[in-house]
Amino acid sequence: MTKKVDDFRLHWGKQELVPIMIGGMGVDISSAELALEAARLGGVGHISDAMLPTVSDRRYDTDFVKEKLQQYKYNLNNSDKSDIKFDLGHIAESTRLHVGKTMEAKRGTGMVFINCMEKLTMNAPKETLKVRLWEALSAGIDGITLAAGLHLGSFALIEDHPRFRDAKLGIIVSSLRALQLFLRKNARTNRLPDFVVVEGPLAGGHLGFGMDWAQYDLRTITQEVIDYLKAEQLDIPVIPAGGIFTGTDATNFLEMGAAAVQVATRFTVAAECGLPKDVQQEYFKASEDDIEVNGVSPTGYPMRMLKGSPAIGSGIRPGCESYGYILDANGKCSYIDSYNREVELHPNEKKISVMDKTCLCTHMRNFKLWTCGHYTYRLKDTSRKLDDGSYQVLTAEHIFKDYQFSTDNKVALPE
Ligand SMILES: Cc1cc2nc3c(=O)[nH]c(=O)nc-3n(C[C@H](O)[C@H](O)[C@H](O)COP(=O)(O)O)c2cc1C
Repeated sequence: MTKKVDDFRLHWGKQELVPIMIGGMGVDISSAELALEAARLGGVGHISDAMLPTVSDRRYDTDFVKEKLQQYKYNLNNSDKSDIKFDLGHIAESTRLHVGKTMEAKRGTGMVFINCMEKLTMNAPKETLKVRLWEALSAGIDGITLAAGLHLGSFALIEDHPRFRDAKLGIIVSSLRALQLFLRKNARTNRLPDFVVVEGPLAGGHLGFGMDWAQYDLRTITQEVIDYLKAEQLDIPVIPAGGIFTGTDATNFLEMGAAAVQVATRFTVAAECGLPKDVQQEYFKASEDDIEVNGVSPTGYPMRMLKGSPAIGSGIRPGCESYGYILDANGKCSYIDSYNREVELHPNEKKISVMDKTCLCTHMRNFKLWTCGHYTYRLKDTSRKLDDGSYQVLTAEHIFKDYQFSTDNKVALPE
């Protein structure tokens, strides 16, 4: 009989889960509502810890961004942003709020994890990351997925936390080499990761590859990681991600020994997803030609997005006084340099354009950077076109169950 995802389970000790994990999507694209649906249906959902102060302002009526801007207003016209620091108390409080309220609302047998990106260096990489991880554990998150970075010292930041050995901790890698490096550097904590997400080149968001991403293949990397862990007798669940579009794609990975799959793009058009409705229609309408991998992210990683993203070419003033998540340990972000260069080149122009980099914080915050997976152009085949020409938004449950129960590369259309 043809197998389907539901014939498999993800096991952690006594815990048994549907082997479907919805990946983290910042900034609040993988919303609490979406993550909670995954948990209710017996799988794993992710909230994101990207820019939680602004997420908290939007959701819980706090004023963290306003307060930060007040404090640093004097610096708005200064190209040196090194003064701008985060209030660690604000980060802690916004993390406690978002994680705490999400976990309170959790129902069902699944889990909710938080996606935590090391590349959000926040002008004090270690201090800010420690607070984010620590407070997420304190507020009761089921697990943490360490993303966007090598995270060589991240476990050590929380090894004194009472939940260090009870919460599920995992990392995202895009190569066997990155995993080996992590395991070597992390050995001192005497704590293995509870899962490894292997993210291939077709994923959404930032890619763990160079611009030669197209030469890599998720299946090959996943097989290398599975073989290595087996040879080392390390029993760590391997979870491939990136371009797994149908239940059949997922089943193929489970049959080769993956413990679960991580998926995201299909859920960008779910009602519970944080993307505004009009942006979801852009995702539905996209054709293959409308999608590109480019270098506009100031993190230095290539990023996949819709070519029509308003963030591309936008020459807004750097938003560091309000945000500043990409500022490195020296208070620098490559968008600031690109912006200043264009201002100098066009001293008399009111509105300038910056093509090579984008103000990632402001544009992600405002849903103006439409990052997406490679197969976004297939989303139109997962729904119905309505009489007004728009596509029907799906429920997360519909998409989740389609992954769980479908066979023969079929995708179930909504009622
Ligand atoms: C809109 C969007 C935003 C994303 N944001 C993040 C993020 O903030 N952190 C992260 O680790 N991965 C991010 N990803 C990657 C996903 O978590 C996931 O691993 C990947 O997209 C899975 O591939 P698929 O989209 O083809 O299913 C994002 C993906 C999408 C589509």
